[in-house]
Amino acid sequence: MSEKHIDEISGVETTGHVWDGIRELNNPMPRWWVWTFYATIVWAIGYAIAYPSIPLITGATKGLLGYSSRADVTAELNVAKLAQAVYLEKIAALPLEQIVADKELEQFAVAGGAAAFKVNCTPCHGSGAAGGPGYPNLNDDDWLWGGDLQSIYTTVSHGIRYDTDPDTRVSEMPAFGDILEPDQIRQVAAYVVSLTGTPHDPAMVEPGKQLFADNCASCHGEDAKGGRDFGAPNLADAIWLKGSSETAIIAQVTAPKHGVMPGWNVRLGDTTVKELTVFVHSLGGGE
Ligand code: HEC
Ligand code: HEC
Repeated sequence: MSEKHIDEISGVETTGHVWDGIRELNNPMPRWWVWTFYATIVWAIGYAIAYPSIPLITGATKGLLGYSSRADVTAELNVAKLAQAVYLEKIAALPLEQIVADKELEQFAVAGGAAAFKVNCTPCHGSGAAGGPGYPNLNDDDWLWGGDLQSIYTTVSHGIRYDTDPDTRVSEMPAFGDILEPDQIRQVAAYVVSLTGTPHDPAMVEPGKQLFADNCASCHGEDAKGGRDFGAPNLADAIWLKGSSETAIIAQVTAPKHGVMPGWNVRLGDTTVKELTVFVHSLGGGE
């Protein structure tokens, strides 16, 4: 069918195949290519002998070098765990002030606290800890119960109005719907509104001021700037836990709503609570 044929132009032998009169030159592979090819084969055989490679039923051949990537990872993890244990032991042993005084330790605690915050706290306080209605923003310096390390630690450990913990923070704003007349509630609400600089009818504000001094100042303070012993919010600023509208204020005074937060020391352990404290303290409002 086809016999040896030399291409006239290049002088190279062809493969003998003809497609529509077109023939293929039968050039040999370049030397360097062939040798590289052999080298890869030799390499592959060497590799298969030296390293685990051939799959068996319950594993693979071990290889002469006995290498295992799993053992490598385990070893690395152990080293990391040891390094962590050193930090965690220090956090467990040292008081909060000394933890934040040590930059490296503080960094470690903040990272650990941030991780624990993501898992446990974001459902209520938000992923950026900015809170929402009823849930305080933890980034600002407006604190209900206090923003120094010890106060934050107590809040996070024992929770707020968390019945199962005898050391929890408690306070209850009375339901003034049972104590004051509706008119008086409107007056005291008018006074509260006027505190944030929103003008309001003086005929309402004046009696409201007196009502406030008599009924509210004991918790919220004479100047309405809040009382941390009671977790009573500052009413003279633009930050509101429940709502800033007059309707919301009247609602809170008539029949107050109270926020509840679980205590975390039993669930997460003291070391994690310390890390969370350092993390929250580092967010910007720490005192
Ligand atoms: C179930 C919802 C909920 C979860 C989860 C939660 N919190 Fe709270 N947290 C609250 C509420 C509600 C308040 C405000 C309580 C009040 O009105 O006094 C609060 C208040 C706080 C305060 C006090 C703020 C201040 O101004 O004094 C801190 C600090 C705090 N939370 C930290 C945390 C940390 C850290 C976690 C995670 C370990 C967490 N919270 C998880 C609901 C929650
Ligand atoms: C026994 C202490 C106490 C007394 C007395 C009290 N409050 Fe409160 N008040 C609180 C606490 C605690 C909160 C916060 C509730 C919470 O954290 O969920 C609060 C919340 C509020 C809020 C909501 C603030 C916000 O940021 O959304 C308003 C408004 C308010 N009080 C007004 C008053 C007025 C007006 C009076 C007097 C008629 C009064 N309170 C008396 C403890 C008190």
